[in-house]
Amino acid sequence: MRQSTTTLLLVGWASITTADVVKPYGGEGRVNPGGQKVILDNDWNAAAAGQFLMALDYGWDVLGLVSDTSNSWAMQCGMHALALLEVGNLSCIPVHKGADYPLLMTPKLMDAWQGLEGPLVWQGVFAPYNETAEALGSDPTSGDPTRVNRAALVEGYPNTTFASYTAAAWMVEQVRKYPGEVIIYSGGSFTNIAMAVRMDSGFAALTKGLYVMGGFVDTNLLMTSGDENQADINTDFNLKADPEAAKIVLTADFPNITLVSSASNAQFIDEDYLNDVYEVKNPYTKLARDTTETFLPIWDETTVIVMLEPESVLNKTTFYVNVDTSYYSPTYGNIWAYQKALVPRNQDLREVTYVYSVNGTTLRSSLKSALQYPKTCS
Ligand SMILES: *[C@@H]1O[C@H](CO)[C@@H](O)[C@H](O)[C@H]1NC(C)=O
Ligand SMILES: *[C@@H]1O[C@H](CO)[C@@H](O)[C@H](O)[C@H]1NC(C)=O
Ligand SMILES: *[C@@H]1O[C@H](CO)[C@@H](O)[C@H](O)[C@H]1NC(C)=O
Ligand SMILES: *[C@@H]1O[C@H](CO)[C@@H](O)[C@H](O)[C@H]1NC(C)=O
Ligand SMILES: *[C@@H]1O[C@H](CO)[C@@H](O)[C@H](O)[C@H]1NC(C)=O
Ligand SMILES: *[C@@H]1O[C@H](CO)[C@@H](O)[C@H](O)[C@H]1NC(C)=O
Repeated sequence: MRQSTTTLLLVGWASITTADVVKPYGGEGRVNPGGQKVILDNDWNAAAAGQFLMALDYGWDVLGLVSDTSNSWAMQCGMHALALLEVGNLSCIPVHKGADYPLLMTPKLMDAWQGLEGPLVWQGVFAPYNETAEALGSDPTSGDPTRVNRAALVEGYPNTTFASYTAAAWMVEQVRKYPGEVIIYSGGSFTNIAMAVRMDSGFAALTKGLYVMGGFVDTNLLMTSGDENQADINTDFNLKADPEAAKIVLTADFPNITLVSSASNAQFIDEDYLNDVYEVKNPYTKLARDTTETFLPIWDETTVIVMLEPESVLNKTTFYVNVDTSYYSPTYGNIWAYQKALVPRNQDLREVTYVYSVNGTTLRSSLKSALQYPKTCS
């Protein structure tokens, strides 16, 4: 009986051993019980610890991390989340593995779409499988979504494992357990949040709001007039990774939705900042110094500071939002914005807050202290 249960559990997770599955996630309890509750959903990588450390530093109660498929597969991104928590004695925070695949998008469909509408500079998980790149430490792309690349886990291979493999169901449970109290943060694709929205029609309204890294407007000209990196950072990859999920989430009845997109494209950290942070030596300041890609904006951390500290927003607006879900479109997966009088009558679109700019001083000092003096479970 017990054996057959184990076998069932393992279907679909062929690369996970029985030992991994039965091991608990590490501990019980939370770092800041009583603080503002938040669930952080992202395509975690080795450089991502600042996001949950900032939330903990502000006294927030991180109920758990959820992994999604965007830059790599949800399995690998979840392994990064487990490892990042472990290196700082934060394994009392559970990690829930998200959906392997976007709702419709696949590597084959993304490849065909690029042939029709133009190549993406950054293809994320949809990039063709590249054995050499993975051997050199890149996160997995294409191929089997459940495989784990140890070479990319520069934080260390986790000794803990997932609290569940059904993140959407766990999010629904948490929001039902604490109605009106849980903020949802989306730093990657929307697949898991869309599944939670569809699974439970009360989910979105019962949260305390949604913060999103993504939702770019009017960036097309920027994509023509600079280098490929400039085209890349204006692409809105998080939404394009799962356009249908983006539409489900951005039209759902969350009490409020805040989009942080172009504002984050203005925020960078450089070698000097990272060396300064590393003046205090710990695993997180070392990972930040060694793994941050300084040619990219700190998109996710900018979104986190908007969530943690509303006063950090310098300028914002509101509009109604739609998502292009037409496959035969160069803006497939991008948003379209409306003023109230012009909202299409046959769609139930909703108003969102769009952040124009953020106080970079607040952002950089918050990130620095969170990395230098991380909270721990004990
Ligand atoms: C897991 O334990 C091994 C052996 O102690 C260690 O080398 C590794 O770094 C640990 N993983 C993490 C993520 O800390
Ligand atoms: C984690 O705990 C170990 C053992 O208690 C300790 O050596 C290490 O400094 C702690 N790390 C952090 C980041 O608190
Ligand atoms: C595969 O990755 C290697 C190492 O990053 C790179 O040099 C090579 O161009 C890649 N191959 C393809 C076909 O993209
Ligand atoms: C979002 O809605 C919740 C619930 O009504 C409220 O507590 C919170 O202050 C709102 N947040 C923003 C940014 O408007
Ligand atoms: C806010 O940003 C918009 C768009 O860039 C600009 O038109 C407006 O002047 C800005 N307002 C302030 C107070 O900076
Ligand atoms: C940004 O925040 C810092 C404190 O972190 C403050 O001194 C500064 O005045 C703020 N800048 C703006 C433009 O509000």
